[in-house]
Amino acid sequence: MIKIHMELKKLEITARKDIKSAKNLKDLDDIFKKYLGKKGELTLILRSLKNLPIKERKTQGKIANQIKKDLELIIQEQKHKLQASSFKIQDTGFDITVPGKKQDLGHLHPLTLVRRKVEEIFQSMGFSVVEGPEVESEWYNFDALNIPKEHPARDLWDTFYLKQKKLLLRTHTSPVQIRYMEKNQPPLRIIVPGRVFRHEATDAGHEVNFYHIEGLMIDKKGKVSVANFKAIIGEFFKRFFEKEIKIRLRPSYFPFTEPSFEIDINCVNCLGKGCSVCAQTGWVETLGAGMVHPNVLKAVGLNPKFWQGFAFGVGMDRLAIMKYKIQDIRLFYGGDLRFLQQF
Ligand code: PHE
Repeated sequence: MIKIHMELKKLEITARKDIKSAKNLKDLDDIFKKYLGKKGELTLILRSLKNLPIKERKTQGKIANQIKKDLELIIQEQKHKLQASSFKIQDTGFDITVPGKKQDLGHLHPLTLVRRKVEEIFQSMGFSVVEGPEVESEWYNFDALNIPKEHPARDLWDTFYLKQKKLLLRTHTSPVQIRYMEKNQPPLRIIVPGRVFRHEATDAGHEVNFYHIEGLMIDKKGKVSVANFKAIIGEFFKRFFEKEIKIRLRPSYFPFTEPSFEIDINCVNCLGKGCSVCAQTGWVETLGAGMVHPNVLKAVGLNPKFWQGFAFGVGMDRLAIMKYKIQDIRLFYGGDLRFLQQF
């Protein structure tokens, strides 16, 4: 018993010395192996304890384990010391102890804040977020959406055409409905946030470039109705504006939905009393929607006898304008820090 005790003491003293005199990480690693590695001196002693009578094993084991812990700790300390000094030696021109310059923290653009919020709300209701290309073909932007060539409805979406292959900048996110349904079988629920373009004169309410969020929900005939749409969109507005919002549906026209409607919400600014934001009407038009037109379902090979659903399109800029009470859509794209830093 005395013998092991002495051996341990001796080992501890030499190990401590060795560790303190290690000049680099390689030395230190060798020292670790020498004492604590698989065949290290201390490891062997620890292993041999099992041959001792139980009482002795306990007392010696306690001492040996304590030594092991101590050695591990001072090896760690020595390691940190060596690492810190190797920095100083290598990078002579760089003093790691000088406090750094503070980085200016960026922040999110209001439209990004809105997009994230919308995504979060719809995701919680089981919708997936999907994206599509900004440069589209006439087929996806118009034909597949039941807007044939020469149809006057195309004028609603005047846009920028590219010279090649009848490509254009998409005027809405609706083409992604088609792209998604071509590849995925219903039942399905998606929203599509994205940038869209229109050939328009700009003013406080219009830009040539802005953002839409498309929504699409398709299920077996009889399972998704206008009532479902109204409930979902009502829930969305309530959570987006964080207050009770009245909505109303007005009949409208879109080639890709039938019936179609326009959704107005109670003006968030005056809560329906009438103000300049809502042109004294108390209502603000926010969303186009309807039940997906049978021709659109046919265009992607779905039989309208078995499937039905709703679609909607909402202007992200308009949501942001209402949420943050912004006067002019052009502010979103001007890059003026006095505006952007308010978010
Ligand atoms: N795409 C339409 C627009 O550009 C909005 C919409 C989407 C309407 C889906 C009905 C259904 O205004």
